[in-house]
Amino acid sequence: MTDHRLIHDADCLNTGTRPVVTADHFVTPVDQFFTRSHAKIPAIDARTWRLEVAGRCERPRTFSLEELRAFPHRTVAATLVCAGLRRNEFLLLGPLPGELPWGPEAASTGEWSGVSLRDVIEAVGIGDGACYVEFTGLDTVERHGRQFGFGGSVDLGKAMAGDVILATDLNGAPLPAVHGFPMRAVVPGWIGARSVKWLGRITLLDQPSMNYFEREAYRIQHTPDPAKPRDVTAGVSMSAVPLNAVILDPSAEQQVRAGRVRVRGWAMGSAARPVAAVEVSPNDGREWVAARITTPGTGYTWTFWEAAVELGAGRHTLVVRAADGVADQQSPDLRESWNVKGYGNNAWHRVAITARPGA
Ligand code: MTE
Repeated sequence: MTDHRLIHDADCLNTGTRPVVTADHFVTPVDQFFTRSHAKIPAIDARTWRLEVAGRCERPRTFSLEELRAFPHRTVAATLVCAGLRRNEFLLLGPLPGELPWGPEAASTGEWSGVSLRDVIEAVGIGDGACYVEFTGLDTVERHGRQFGFGGSVDLGKAMAGDVILATDLNGAPLPAVHGFPMRAVVPGWIGARSVKWLGRITLLDQPSMNYFEREAYRIQHTPDPAKPRDVTAGVSMSAVPLNAVILDPSAEQQVRAGRVRVRGWAMGSAARPVAAVEVSPNDGREWVAARITTPGTGYTWTFWEAAVELGAGRHTLVVRAADGVADQQSPDLRESWNVKGYGNNAWHRVAITARPGA
């Protein structure tokens, strides 16, 4: 692990590095990839590990790693975005008890290889009434006094689209334990929580997963219930990541030299739509300049961009916003994006900096 890793918990389960937005870092080196785990990493012996596929399928069965490797090999480049990305901005509006204060470090891009979920489901046959596919991990999470594996589901359409990978490899090497060895789901374009690590079971269901992490967490609820102010069960379950854009250079409170200042960052579209345009404002949204795409991505990855703005000496608020072909997806106002557990913040990203008089 690199020494500039931000660590969000005493057990070092939730960590990340500030993304570097140069072409050579378009795919995040594994030692810089963020890690987000709700319990300790399970010890798994790949030789005895089995994937169970059950529920509403015609031929439920288990697969060894060797049996899974018989399916066609697939690789997908996908940016994993944690639903908690940019939650730290919400803390300006008030505390979010029990939630990790993620900044921009909760997003990384990997080249994920393995087999297609579709191929595995076709091998077991879709049974009557199957509408969702649930992933369950082999970790042991405790909530409300109950112990269970982390899990969540995707709808059958996404599961059969061919892009969901049961990955054994990240960036050309076996998955490190922290990222889900020996196999994890990778659901491109969806919140990271659906990319279940240490996969143990796939269940075809007639309804969305009842796992705590789908029923009671990773849901957007804008108005708290006064009787249960931390409860989001009535909220909307998250699936595709929202359109987002983040300034990484300069960083908040950085001092720059007045004059022409380079601004860089990443943007990513929603629902597999590639980023179409990125704009940067040098003055808190009053004027905008078009950014140049420096490293284009796909609908499943981030895109790197760069813009030049003219700044006089003094304080400035830089802002970024992006477009992916569908209008009005990013709010200028952080308060509109706010929700009870602080998920999916995609308000215009603002970075306040100071420009010193030029030489
Ligand atoms: N899978 C299991 N089994 N347990 C977990 O805690 N965390 C999820 C997801 N899959 C999690 C999991 C969340 S919230 C995210 S953002 C991603 O894994 C993080 O993946 P990474 O640690 O490989 O970056």
